[in-house]
Amino acid sequence: MAIKVSENGRLFTLQTKDSSYQMFADSRNVLLHLYYGKKIGEENLSDLIFCTDMGFSGNPEEAGSDRSYSLDTLPQEVPSSGVGDYRDDMVRIRHADGSCAADFRFVSAEVQDGSYRVPGMPALYDTQDEKGETLVITMKEKASDVMLKLFYGVFENQNVITRAARLENHGSSAIALEKMLSFSMDVLFGDYEMVYFAGRHAMERTMERIPVQRAKVEIGSIRGTSSHHYNPAVILCEEGAGEEYGACIGACLAYSGNFVAAAQKDQKNQTRFQMGIHPTQFCFRLEEGEAFDTPQVILSYSGSGFAVLSHQYHEIIREHMCRGAYKHARRPILINNWEATYFDFNEEKILKIAKQASELGIEMLVLDDGWFGKRDDDNSGLGDWYVNEKKMNGTMAQLSSKIHALGMKFGLWFEPEMISEDSDLYRTHPEWALQIPGRVPNRGRNQLVLDMSREDVREYLLERMTTIVREASIDYVKWDMNRSLSDGFSCLLSPEKGGEVYHRFVLGVYDLLERFLAACPNLLLEGCSGGGGRFDAGMMYYSPQIWCSDNTDAINRLSIQYGSSFFYPISTVGAHVSVCPNHQTARTTPFETRGNVALSGSFGYEMDLNKIPDEEKEMVKVQVAAMKNYYDLTHEGLYYRLSAPGKKDFMAWEFVAKDQSRALITLVKTDAQGNPLPVHTKICGLNPGKQYQCKLNGRVASGETWNHAGFTLHQTLREYDSLLIEFAEV
Ligand code: GLA
Repeated sequence: MAIKVSENGRLFTLQTKDSSYQMFADSRNVLLHLYYGKKIGEENLSDLIFCTDMGFSGNPEEAGSDRSYSLDTLPQEVPSSGVGDYRDDMVRIRHADGSCAADFRFVSAEVQDGSYRVPGMPALYDTQDEKGETLVITMKEKASDVMLKLFYGVFENQNVITRAARLENHGSSAIALEKMLSFSMDVLFGDYEMVYFAGRHAMERTMERIPVQRAKVEIGSIRGTSSHHYNPAVILCEEGAGEEYGACIGACLAYSGNFVAAAQKDQKNQTRFQMGIHPTQFCFRLEEGEAFDTPQVILSYSGSGFAVLSHQYHEIIREHMCRGAYKHARRPILINNWEATYFDFNEEKILKIAKQASELGIEMLVLDDGWFGKRDDDNSGLGDWYVNEKKMNGTMAQLSSKIHALGMKFGLWFEPEMISEDSDLYRTHPEWALQIPGRVPNRGRNQLVLDMSREDVREYLLERMTTIVREASIDYVKWDMNRSLSDGFSCLLSPEKGGEVYHRFVLGVYDLLERFLAACPNLLLEGCSGGGGRFDAGMMYYSPQIWCSDNTDAINRLSIQYGSSFFYPISTVGAHVSVCPNHQTARTTPFETRGNVALSGSFGYEMDLNKIPDEEKEMVKVQVAAMKNYYDLTHEGLYYRLSAPGKKDFMAWEFVAKDQSRALITLVKTDAQGNPLPVHTKICGLNPGKQYQCKLNGRVASGETWNHAGFTLHQTLREYDSLLIEFAEV
């Protein structure tokens, strides 16, 4: 059992392979957070807490005359709201009388076999090989009939602890839930930094780090999606932590909508760490008997830096979050026509691209935006999911059979959640778009957003998508989403439910995804939101790969893919070779480097291969072979970041096979300097007791030697040149 409960039923220690998490219901039934760190025993750590009367930190009635007992200073699992804890709350309730207070006290706890589910939302699931365990702690609000269930899931091998919460209104009057996060934790001691991944469209997930002090460190999204701008995954780490050094706690939210993540030191230098749905544009009304569930947050601890933390996240997401026919099956190498043609295509052009691609070994043609309705640019047609048979010179089934006849699979682009004002759908159902009566809605890419909280909207989309996929034997769908939400108003919800739209939108998207995949179980789904605007663990429950960025520039991709790698398995990172000068940056990089960078992801092409010179066509064949050769490394192996963007004049990273029989280092020269310095890179993760040969220079040494001494390159690389360097056991 990974979950240990003391005899009196009040001390809970969650044990994983290398970490422990402890909490204790004290004599006043406050649930204290005591520890999250390197593995320890099950002794009660309450003794770590020392309280004095700090002044201006009031005392709850149970404290009696003890002025040192204060909700404002105790480390807690569910901080109270409005009754004397002046730090950030986790659950905020507006009661029927207008008061705003929540003070949860421990009632009982129960250990359950297996992992818990989160209704309507993604969550880590059990496999035949590995089951989680669940602790459910029930708390009661002191002065009302509101109950709170805290869920703790434990996956021992990956050092993962999940949290989620359910609030139930057992009272006779309605309450308004103004804030409800997935977790809160008060780390007792230590100085920390928060690592987060920020950016913008086409420049997502740049790693940044900032010390956590008394000024709050907070990131989040109120765009209705997890966003390009901030990713819902952060690390609270010891000051100065690096790849191989330092304690770190990761928090990764399995949710694709508005979120917040925050860390702040309090007056005692304890760090309150929190994450969950963003309270902005959020207010849930719960009538008697109704409940609200938070999304799941996936926590993981590493006592030795980011590399181990990433390995834990990669494995848990790959094995217990990603699902479907392609969870482990090799994904087809695809060619997507977007950058090749944009909207300017017809059947002939598509077939020509497919034919050339199939001759070079590419396995799937993906037809991107523009095949439906009236859609020759991005100003019209969204919502009209009917094949434009004039443009396609026939039905989609006909095109599909021609692609299949080339021995290729066939994929199709959809943007289900959107509607163009210039569409038959909008002309028939303007009320299906999110918009506020009396306001002209804000447009993004000249389109509006469908009200995904509506059952009728989802039914329409499900029928359209499944019909097309089935009729045309589609093998793959790219599920896109190309704007941020605004004007979040649903005409079906009563006024007091106006604050529920953003969350109900996400629930609606998940519901449609679930039903669509159930109807088409063999489909490979690739998520997308203008590239990586919804690159989150929640979407990975439905799509085992996500188009990582609209930016295909191999050099920009180095930092985007670097940032993505902290939490997300490399197998989830959609990465394509495109033409140069690059369409986003106008930069020219060698074809080989574009391939080498894209090989560290879910590999494909985004160009017309008819238009490249013969020597590049030959390189396509080499890249296709490399993708197959290295697939077990890139998709299932251990990933190591060997350098950080901007720190050196090259970037390097490494994959090590699960059985440590071989490893692959990718090295990209990012800057050329006069009188260049030698390129030396560290090597990680080889088996110390085995001998490995470097395929580049033939040198043989033990894993121990390579791991500690690293590797020096005996050649000079030009700017943007790159190498794949394999190490094989001999
Ligand atoms: C988004 C996607 C692109 C492409 C276009 C089509 O920007 O990220 O890959 O599919 O939409 O409109």
